[in-house]
Amino acid sequence: MKVLALNSSPRVKGQSKTELMLSHLVKGMKEAGADVETVDLRTKKINYCKGCYTCWTKTPGVCVHKDDMALELYPKWLESDIVIYASPLYYYTLNAEMKAFIERTLPILIPYLKRGKDRTGHPLRSKFPQSVVVSVAGFPDDSVFDALRFWSKTVFGHGGGLLAEIYRPAAESMVYSGKRDIILEAVEQAGKELIQHKKVSPATMAVITQPIAEPDVIADIANIAWQPMIDGGMTPAEMEKKGGLAYRPDSHQTLLAMMAFAFNPRKAAGKKGVLQFKFTGKQAGDCYLTINDGLCTRHLGLAEKADCTVEGPFEVWADIVQGKADGGKMAMESKYKAQGDISLLMVFGQ
Ligand SMILES: Cc1cc2nc3c(=O)[nH]c(=O)nc-3n(C[C@H](O)[C@H](O)[C@H](O)COP(=O)(O)O)c2cc1C
Repeated sequence: MKVLALNSSPRVKGQSKTELMLSHLVKGMKEAGADVETVDLRTKKINYCKGCYTCWTKTPGVCVHKDDMALELYPKWLESDIVIYASPLYYYTLNAEMKAFIERTLPILIPYLKRGKDRTGHPLRSKFPQSVVVSVAGFPDDSVFDALRFWSKTVFGHGGGLLAEIYRPAAESMVYSGKRDIILEAVEQAGKELIQHKKVSPATMAVITQPIAEPDVIADIANIAWQPMIDGGMTPAEMEKKGGLAYRPDSHQTLLAMMAFAFNPRKAAGKKGVLQFKFTGKQAGDCYLTINDGLCTRHLGLAEKADCTVEGPFEVWADIVQGKADGGKMAMESKYKAQGDISLLMVFGQ
């Protein structure tokens, strides 16, 4: 099985979430025996389609341009059994690089209009490769992909040729979350399933698309990550180079958001309870987390009943959550007190 994996992110490996998802999908496909070639479209010269219809008239099936698309990529695309179109979501659809590639596949069509069951199309000059669409988005809502879903089905859905659509919302946040590895392993599994069964099972898809936290938690996390970049006049890539994005909680909400976000459901398997914080100092007040097996949710105030209670200055906990101080060491030095089921606290240490 020949697979062409196209990546249209302009970002490099390490920054690109499209690349991250695609590389795991490709790993699974290779493990299942497929012959996969990955192409980073940002490294290729792909001119825009001129709309001259030379490929339909003067030189049927052959484009007038003589660039990487015409000479290298179009022939590879034609020979592939499956093509993966992996693109960042830009303005709710594929980005311009991927769109330019797709528009340049026009030579596969024959100009005559052919009336189908419910719409008009063009006959094909040769076999259209089966398709998989992959996209990643910054926003956490699954509905950000609605326009792309409609578009993908319209363009690639003919004859059952659209094998799968793999959409990951909150992809920027996902890489810092406690669910990162679980999601990426499922993407690998999806790659295997695509080669073995030509589809992705609903169970695997549910793991890939699962929410990593509530949307308001993700918004809080994103906002405390952006602020130091704006203040320091640094891009995300520059900030990463300087030692990583800086997340410092500045309120009860953001502290709990960071804990809920980093929560790894695997480490907390079977755990259940309420973790109460009673903060002293400048940000004195109460707030708590509820842990129920795979879920961790944040609340302000006092819980009716707490299983573990932490008392101490907010700033000490801000240091711990930021990774500047060790939680165990701080407890030994009596910087805070923890009473009750300490194992609930340990879940976050992991
Ligand atoms: C020009 C531009 C437009 C974007 N539009 C959207 C959008 O409509 N919805 C969304 O959720 N994220 C949007 N994003 C965020 C990207 O989808 C997100 O950063 C993604 O991780 C980029 O993929 P990459 O890391 O592979 O480059 C946009 C980013 C850029 C630069």
